[in-house]
Amino acid sequence: MCGIVGIVSNKSVSASIISALKKLEYRGYDSAGISTISNGQISEQKCSGRVDNLEKILFQNPSSGDLGIGHVRWATHGVPNQVNAHPHSSEVVSVVHNGIIENSDELRKEYKEKGYSFKSQTDTEVITIMLTDYLKKENLINCIHKTLEKLEGSFALGVIFKDFDNLVVGARRGSPLAVGYGHNENFIGSDSYALKSMTNKISYLDDGDFCILFKEKVEFYNSDKKKINKQIFELSNEDNTADKGDYRDFMSKEINEQSITTKKCINEYLDKSRNDINIYNLPIDPKKINKIRLIACGTAYHSCLMAKYWIEEFTSLDVEADIASEFRYRKIKFNSNDLYIFVSQSGETADTYAALEKCKKNQVKTCGIVNVVESSIARMADFVLPIHAGPEIGVASTKAFIGQLIVLYLLTLKISKERNDIIDDEYLKLILDLKKLPELIEETLNKQKDIQLIARDFIEAKGTMYLGRGYSYPIAMEGALKLKELSYIHAEGYAAGEMKHGPLALIEDGMPVIVLAPKDRFFEKTISNMQEVIARGGKVLMITDDTSKTMNENIRFKFQIPKTNSTINSFLLTIPIQFLAYHVALLKNCDIDKPRNLAKSVTVE
Ligand code: AGP
Repeated sequence: MCGIVGIVSNKSVSASIISALKKLEYRGYDSAGISTISNGQISEQKCSGRVDNLEKILFQNPSSGDLGIGHVRWATHGVPNQVNAHPHSSEVVSVVHNGIIENSDELRKEYKEKGYSFKSQTDTEVITIMLTDYLKKENLINCIHKTLEKLEGSFALGVIFKDFDNLVVGARRGSPLAVGYGHNENFIGSDSYALKSMTNKISYLDDGDFCILFKEKVEFYNSDKKKINKQIFELSNEDNTADKGDYRDFMSKEINEQSITTKKCINEYLDKSRNDINIYNLPIDPKKINKIRLIACGTAYHSCLMAKYWIEEFTSLDVEADIASEFRYRKIKFNSNDLYIFVSQSGETADTYAALEKCKKNQVKTCGIVNVVESSIARMADFVLPIHAGPEIGVASTKAFIGQLIVLYLLTLKISKERNDIIDDEYLKLILDLKKLPELIEETLNKQKDIQLIARDFIEAKGTMYLGRGYSYPIAMEGALKLKELSYIHAEGYAAGEMKHGPLALIEDGMPVIVLAPKDRFFEKTISNMQEVIARGGKVLMITDDTSKTMNENIRFKFQIPKTNSTINSFLLTIPIQFLAYHVALLKNCDIDKPRNLAKSVTVE
């Protein structure tokens, strides 16, 4: 939810810290700050709003120093103002934090009774005060260790000390922290993406670890203060530098590159010569799998919901899709023959990570479907299937969703084939249909203008509904989420058959309703649900591959998607619902890439 960075170097660090913070802004953008050690003092600068605001302050009052820490914030405790911005500093310590300290109230009370005063409303400031207090009586290692031991909750920390002006400390419990290695300089960052422009050599802290960065070396310690070593990963050379190019914003770029990313993902997994799927060495022999459980949050959960329908259709397996923040607290009946699949674009979502940890503790087999292969979820899962979508910067997930659907579809077909749940001819036909998908997505992308014309009808809407049946239902859920998070208009995704059980009462004259009605086995039933809506004054946008003149006179808008195999219609239905949310948000002058109150990677629960 927040982004942290720290650098110790043989040269001034403030420009590098600002540059890294800009790469981390997708994690939170309520406020930003930096502190360095210069002339033997802690120099702290911070402000509400974006990193650009901080840069302007530094332009007026340059911050020198060859070691420092920086932070971009998504507020959890305390309003997003300058006082609550990180870093939080005392005379001798400065701290940046990502996570939630769950016992901060009692610690605040304890240290107030010791005579300390607090400037902010944040949980983080208790860490600053504790370190300050321990420094008076402990050496550095013990000071760090005793502080971490007293904290409850999650943290990734960056810390600098006035009296140790040659080092930066990092620590991790529950929130990710990467270490980068440079030449006469070393780094910490919330993820490798922030450090990528400074190094391609990365290690990762595990929960309970802390590290001490010097410019010539890095020391790692475990939760018992024992020195440990960490594996150094070489980051992929794949050019992951996200750049908008000629697009107005990252989201329009990421929507429009979906035919490319889909093609790339399919090529990564498809053996074109044999028309077979290259997914092997699953942690459980597919023939022995008893049940599949899919766990994720938000848009990633919607891809799991979609996969549930595919797994039911193509395999003899039982399957469940769970929201991670619920799964992690439920009394799950674990079974060693169940396969637990975790879907996450960032691979850092706290609830999904915690659900994965719960499965690991219960010794069951896990698979991670991620976009960031160096992420915490990828490193913890027994088996990883990357979606190869490239960096997704827009907070609203688009190309990653399509990538998740591709990998889940391929995995379903592969498991089905290995279990002989599908005959060879059908398997081949589904693969050949899938190979045509990138062109069909391109064809649908080229119809963006049709949606742009419709968007105007939504900007005054008090609320709207997305209806679908079968494979269209998860896309109805995703469409509603997209409109909500981008345009701040209330939207509900519903199984079309559910309307008569209550939601129909919401329909009033002129209310926009999006009906996903591909010509599949539910078409006639969905049309009847649509008629119920129209009869009550609903203004329908019908998204379909049907070319007949069904109901044309009463439908306000019709968006035509190309015809394809009904099991993969959902990929094509996704494009117009993404464009609709985008253009409505644009007309409402909303921030497309950084919608209010949100962050790209929700690393706190
Ligand atoms: C998607 O548009 C949202 N921004 C959000 O629901 C996101 O899908 C969710 O937070 C899960 O993120 P992850 O895929 O990185 O785990």
